[in-house]
Amino acid sequence: MFAGIDVGSLVTKAVVLRDGKVAGYSIISSRTNPRKAGEQALEKAITNANCKREDIKCIVATGYGRSSFSFADKTVTELTCHATGAHYLNTEIRTVIDIGGQDSKVIKLDESGKMSDFAMNDKCAAGTGRFLEVMAQALEVGLDSMGEFSLKSDKPCSLSSICTVFAETEVISLIASGAKKKDIVAGLHMSIARRVGSMAKGLGLQKEIAFTGGVAKNSGVRSAFEEFLSVKFAPISEDPQIIGALGAALVASKF
Ligand SMILES: Nc1ncnc2c1ncn2[C@@H]1O[C@H](COP(=O)(O)OP(=O)(O)OP(=O)(O)O)[C@@H](O)[C@H]1O
Ligand SMILES: [Mg+2]
Repeated sequence: MFAGIDVGSLVTKAVVLRDGKVAGYSIISSRTNPRKAGEQALEKAITNANCKREDIKCIVATGYGRSSFSFADKTVTELTCHATGAHYLNTEIRTVIDIGGQDSKVIKLDESGKMSDFAMNDKCAAGTGRFLEVMAQALEVGLDSMGEFSLKSDKPCSLSSICTVFAETEVISLIASGAKKKDIVAGLHMSIARRVGSMAKGLGLQKEIAFTGGVAKNSGVRSAFEEFLSVKFAPISEDPQIIGALGAALVASKF
């Protein structure tokens, strides 16, 4: 058995593989202690996989806090892990769009699943999960209901601010002027799709396209992307948030 740990900036994920298949996984907050989060995520995934720590032959860590996880046999970049995880689930995938808490990435893959090129935004919160968290708070809408909520909108607000701080002010003004929350949320989703989608277009979009990371759980962002890019995302049979950890576990199985 093999394990992959993705210590993300906001969320830590662990995947345990048995016979090359996902036997168990976990998703927990990274909080202020990424080292502890990695250990807790691993323990939880081991319990879910119904095995023992000694059964794990190799552990690979990835993500922003990967070097703080001391039980790893090897550390690998997130780009490689997302590419490896997506290719394992669907060998036709040539582009991965990953949006996590702190950054957004577009990864190009060759036929063998190896990364051939990438683009990344890690300088600014706009176009990340953190951006949506700030806006969910300002709007008093639950983060996990934002997707469903925005899909009810037939007139998305147009938001002109790119910066998270200015966009929050713009959202507050829109609420004050009587705009419907569903239309504001739909506008926010479209602004993420435009920002990250333009980065993807710049790199050159090649089908099939997978959407990974925690933000891929937001059906409103998914649909805004599909509209902006005029594509349909390839279906993924696992939780999109664990693809990096899955890739790490697959790297561990070949180490
Ligand atoms: N059920 C959900 N519905 C909508 N959004 C969600 C849901 N669960 C998580 N998210 C979003 O996913 C984000 C975290 O995603 P992820 O776990 O990929 O980030 P991370 O790996 O910690 O970040 P990074 O890769 O930038 O270091 C949160 O900021 C949140 O916006
Ligand atoms: Mg991540």
